[in-house]
Parts: sequence; structure tokens; C-alpha cells
Amino acid sequence: MQKITQILGILILGFILQSCSGSGTTTENTTTPVGKPDAEEGGAPDASGKVSPDYAIKEVELTIPLEAGMVEEGKTISEMKCTSCHSLAENRLVGPGWKGITTRRKPEWIMNMITNVDMMLAEDEEAQKMLEECLVRMPNQNITVAESRSILEFMRHNDGVQ
Ligand code: HEC
Repeated sequence: MQKITQILGILILGFILQSCSGSGTTTENTTTPVGKPDAEEGGAPDASGKVSPDYAIKEVELTIPLEAGMVEEGKTISEMKCTSCHSLAENRLVGPGWKGITTRRKPEWIMNMITNVDMMLAEDEEAQKMLEECLVRMPNQNITVAESRSILEFMRHNDGVQ
């Protein structure tokens, strides 16, 4: 009897996990050139790089080849603060797996999600849809804009960019 309950539990869990793959969304990955977040607009990051709620990252400059130092830093932060909930493959843990994320999301979107999840869940439709599928809200991890850029670089590395 206990065994049946266990098996049922696993099946139900499997169903829930499957329903949140994060891969159903296709956001065009147009790479916007030019520099840093637009500091003119809204509350720019303060000295520590933290963002205020009305501030959003608008443009991210991507480099090829990757910046090795940023990949390393991004990996370290991810292992400390993210991989308990995000796998580097496609499978979902608590949040969606990261494999392929840099092709289905824009870099700005990813960095806003990392630095400002509350704003994204309040205002961004794609983020809201994901929350509905995942049922769990990503906690604010207190990540600076610079740190989020390194994590993005690590994600690109994970997606096979050289
Ligand atoms: C406690 C679990 C948890 C932790 C820790 C966590 N996340 Fe998440 N993350 C989630 C969940 C759940 C979602 C989807 C629902 C939502 O957005 O609230 C998500 C969504 C995301 C997304 C969007 C995924 C997609 O497929 O579009 C990104 C990007 C992301 N997280 C990055 C990070 C980064 C970077 C860290 C570490 C600094 C991190 N997360 C730490 C749970 C977590």
C-alpha cells in the first residue's frame, strides 16, 4: 500500500515537472548591439549594481568569442545560487532547465529576469506564463547587473557558443 502511494506520488510529481519545460516559448533572439544598460532612464543601478524596480536593462552587447573570465564567474555564481533549482540540461528542477535558453530568450530578457524577477513577474507576459506553468516563484537572488552579465555568458557557453 505504501509502495503504491509512493509510485502515485512520483507519477504526479513527474506530471507537474513535465508541464513546465519553458521551451514552448519562442522569443526571437535578435542581438542588439551597443553598450551598457541605459543609465539615463529610470533608476539606474547604484554603486553596488543593484537595480531599482522601475529600471530595466534595455540593451546588452554580446561578444564572440566569449569572455572567458565572465564564463568562469558566471559558473561560480550559478553553482552557488542557481543550480539547486536550474539544471544545465533541458529538464526542469524547480525552474526550467537552461539548455537552449539563450536561443529562446533575448539577452536583455534573461538579465532582467535574473536581476529583477519581481518586476518581470509583475509586467512581463512571458515571465507570467512561466510562473503559471512552474507554480513556484523564483526568489530574488540579489544579483548585480554585472553578475547577471557573467551568468548570461556562462549560459551562452552552456549553449555551445565558443
Ligand atoms: C528556489 C528556486 C530558484 C532559484 C534558486 C533560482 N531560480 Fe530561476 N527560476 C525559478 C523558477 C520557479 C522559475 C520560473 C517561474 C518564475 O519565473 O518565477 C525561474 C526562472 C528563471 C529564468 C527564466 C527561465 C526561462 O526558461 O525562461 C531564468 C533566466 C532564471 N530563472 C535564472 C536564475 C538564475 C541566474 C539564478 C541564480 C542566480 C536562479 N534563477 C535561481 C526558480 C529558481
